[in-house]
Amino acid sequence: MRRVAATRYVTPLREGGSLPALVEADDDGLYVLKFRGAGQGPKALVAEVIVGELARALGFPVPELVLVELDAAIGRAEPDPEIQDLLLASGGLNVGVDFLPGALPFSPAAAPPPSADFAADVVWLDALATNVDRTAQNPNLLWWHGRLWLIDHGAALYFHHAADVEGGHARGRFEAVRAHVLLPYASSIGAADVRLARRVTPALLEHAVAEVPEEWLGFGDGGIYVDYLRRRLEAPRGFVEEAEDARG
Ligand SMILES: Nc1ncnc2c1ncn2[C@@H]1O[C@H](COP(=O)(O)OP(=O)(O)O)[C@@H](O)[C@H]1O
Ligand SMILES: [Mg+2]
Repeated sequence: MRRVAATRYVTPLREGGSLPALVEADDDGLYVLKFRGAGQGPKALVAEVIVGELARALGFPVPELVLVELDAAIGRAEPDPEIQDLLLASGGLNVGVDFLPGALPFSPAAAPPPSADFAADVVWLDALATNVDRTAQNPNLLWWHGRLWLIDHGAALYFHHAADVEGGHARGRFEAVRAHVLLPYASSIGAADVRLARRVTPALLEHAVAEVPEEWLGFGDGGIYVDYLRRRLEAPRGFVEEAEDARG
């Protein structure tokens, strides 16, 4: 991932639960900044990077992710005390998501339906990564330049919030797949599994995890994430059957 420095706090994005903001950086780019000091802390950024880069490597449209160096002083003109606190808690490295100007949120009513295979592939990815944040209320999919882009993977890989991160979670159930916004459009999840699973090699997982700055990893290196995803991918993959059941 590239590294940039934030030069201007432009505006908060009120529709996001984590209060992300639009910032300008020293490469003249505009980024949606996901703050390290927001509610879930650095773990949300760890999930954002690992699942975003995994999705990109599999060919899904994902806006470029960059590491943004933040000097909390850039927000001094921002009057909202909540935002001031967020900036103060987020000095140093944060995640920036390339801003897609004019992008429209996916809405089942308004949008053309996504292709059935694409929908199945996204369901498969989110079931693998235990992403609970792709629901009708909160689709985290943006229409832009004729394609659906995947954003906001901060709630994925939620095993890392548990006290016992080495527990049996990797082989546990993922009921939340039932609420996936693309499930009603999806073709066979088993066929998506045939398309995608063999491409998620250990090397690809290691590559995605290696993008995470060490300072965000509270427990050792990123090995727990590689192990977790490898265990989820061991056959028979319960999450595929579960998603297929939910589609049923
Ligand atoms: N790269 C982007 N380009 C354009 N709009 C974005 C982008 N990323 C996020 N947004 C907008 O900001 C909102 C909040 O961002 P999101 O990453 O979903 O944060 P949160 O974790 O707070 O839900 C999104 O629902 C979307 O409307
Ligand atoms: Mg969101």
